[in-house]
Amino acid sequence: MKNIILTGDRPTGPLHIGHYVGSLRNRVLIQNEGNYDEMYVFAADAQALTDNFDNPKNVRKNVLEVVMDNIACGLDPNKVVFFIQSEVPELTELTFYYMNLVTVSRLHRNPTVKEEIKVRGFDESIPAGFFTYPVSQSADITAFKANIVPVGEDQLPMVEQAREIVRKFNSIYNTDVLVEPNAKIPNTENERRLVGTDGNAKMSKSLDNCIYLKDRKVFSMYTDPNHIKVEDPGKVEGNTVFTYLDVFCKDNSFSKYLPEYKNLDELKEHYRKGGLGDMKIKRFLNDILQEELKPIREKREELERNPEYVLNVLKEGTMKARKKAGETLKEVKKAMNYFE
Ligand code: TRP
Repeated sequence: MKNIILTGDRPTGPLHIGHYVGSLRNRVLIQNEGNYDEMYVFAADAQALTDNFDNPKNVRKNVLEVVMDNIACGLDPNKVVFFIQSEVPELTELTFYYMNLVTVSRLHRNPTVKEEIKVRGFDESIPAGFFTYPVSQSADITAFKANIVPVGEDQLPMVEQAREIVRKFNSIYNTDVLVEPNAKIPNTENERRLVGTDGNAKMSKSLDNCIYLKDRKVFSMYTDPNHIKVEDPGKVEGNTVFTYLDVFCKDNSFSKYLPEYKNLDELKEHYRKGGLGDMKIKRFLNDILQEELKPIREKREELERNPEYVLNVLKEGTMKARKKAGETLKEVKKAMNYFE
């Protein structure tokens, strides 16, 4: 079987380090391992419109931003096909056929959509397009016959929905044209839900607790409110600086930036005992974050100076994507024994 990787981002704003550790870093790893036949990454602008239909300008503006963020993080347009969802109308057609395979009550049970409806205050006036976006997302995934979908944890219900549609389609039309996808999420809980700089919730624009990939400043960060004097014993659990260190610290970080400690365990032990100040651990984290984010920021600035290049990547990629999605659509209609 072929290995086909696919994932997308809604273009609604710049990406932050929560996106990075929750999903982007994984994509880059997969790309660099090179164990795949095709890889697609796209701007899910049609999906973004389902709750931004009153502000298409903002979605449009962010298409390029999201693609630049992905390239800046290390995805290589020579290895990855980048495309714009709305420019592949085959996806919309597939969505329409898949709608018949999903019940309204099944859509109501999608926990991520449920949560989003609550957050957006849609109550009873849920746009049908928003409510059904998991079906459209199933089309995105299956049109490319993706078997591996690197995503954040919140996307697990979408991949599950796609799997159900694939099974249903293949069984009703007695075919094997569609491929069941598997989600790939990060290994640790801290990566799957990187806390915001305030320490108490997932990083999110609306909570104003983000570090963006393009940020120069790195932080003012929540530590342990009872750790007032350097001599005081401090808490490591729930301390944002240590949570981030768990996620970002590398084997050589200590020898580079804090050689008086051997490893993170030793640093944590000293903090717990007392005698280690917040400034010191913050400076250490800052050095580590800068090392990881600086090349991303620089690459991004280079891309910003050259939007023509990014547009061209998207143009070529979208052509390839249309071709592939068109082939699948043909197979789908043939399997349905319908007009081809
Ligand atoms: N729902 C994803 C997000 O919120 C975007 C997305 C759309 C996607 N279609 C997809 C992700 C297909 C993976 C596969 O960012």
